[in-house]
Amino acid sequence: MNNGTLIWRNGELIRWEDATVHVTTHALHYGSSVFEGIRAYATPQGPAVFRLQPHTKRLVNSCKIARIDLPYSAAELDTAVLETIRQNGHESCYVRPLVIRGIGRMGLEGRHNSVDTYIITFEWGRYLGSDAIDHGVDVQVSSWRRSAPGTAASLGKIGGQYVNSQFISMEAHDNGFSEGIALDINGYVSEGAGENIFVMSDGIVYTPGAWNSILLGVTRDTVLTILRDLGYEIRFEPIARDMLYLADEIFFTGTAAEVTPIRSVDRIKVGTGQPGPITKAVQEVFFAITSGQREDHHGWLTHVRQSQPTLGD
Ligand SMILES: Cc1ncc(COP(=O)(O)O)c(C=O)c1O
Repeated sequence: MNNGTLIWRNGELIRWEDATVHVTTHALHYGSSVFEGIRAYATPQGPAVFRLQPHTKRLVNSCKIARIDLPYSAAELDTAVLETIRQNGHESCYVRPLVIRGIGRMGLEGRHNSVDTYIITFEWGRYLGSDAIDHGVDVQVSSWRRSAPGTAASLGKIGGQYVNSQFISMEAHDNGFSEGIALDINGYVSEGAGENIFVMSDGIVYTPGAWNSILLGVTRDTVLTILRDLGYEIRFEPIARDMLYLADEIFFTGTAAEVTPIRSVDRIKVGTGQPGPITKAVQEVFFAITSGQREDHHGWLTHVRQSQPTLGD
């Protein structure tokens, strides 16, 4: 990992090696943290953060669900993200804002403990391997289900909930697959361990909805806009497991995974086994916008060097 040298903690930039926590930190015991994953891409105008505001909004919303009193506004966090990238001198990077319940009392309740906010940046390549974007990945349907509605809060990106995602990923890796797809409690397709899923059949695009226990991904929202701009019909419907085997195309979306084609599910080839025309059309627009090669007419990029410096600069 090629990390930044500075980490933003509670309003100040500190050295990477000083960003440590005490062993009684509540989040270590009970998963009481919320986080985001954001990418900044290299563009001809320097680094640009992709969809900063929706990510920050989701962080604020995750805190609301987890009843964590976040001491910063969305605007303050946006400024802090840009400042951290700038000070670390990245041309492109992954950004990990993290809010944790810290030290105070032991025990479940946690609201008497400190709340600590961090912004971590590091350089990170292709999440599912360098070949994945061009040729696709082989995945399995996991034996682990996503948590049922009312047992977890899938709309919040809350640390403890990611134990379920770890089970899905580890099982897939142990079985020789790049990633696992979880079904929801009713047996319908939910999402990958850390990705949303799109399924194409006879020219129509299907994707699960919030009722399928998914995280509402920012990349999912981006891709829905791209698909609408390209004129495709989109249906938010329950997707049966066997639809995955009969689909013409399937792809994952996520900040880490970007737009990654799926070439097989449970060793059954998806379509021709090559990325299909809808997948390629979406990838072309997505990567052209994120690399600054195509006009950003939706205003998705925040250019790090052109944005306002923070107070105190
Ligand atoms: C469980 C889960 N689903 C979907 C996604 C994709 O969301 P996004 O596109 O906002 O990165 C992520 C990644 O954050 C995730 O962790």
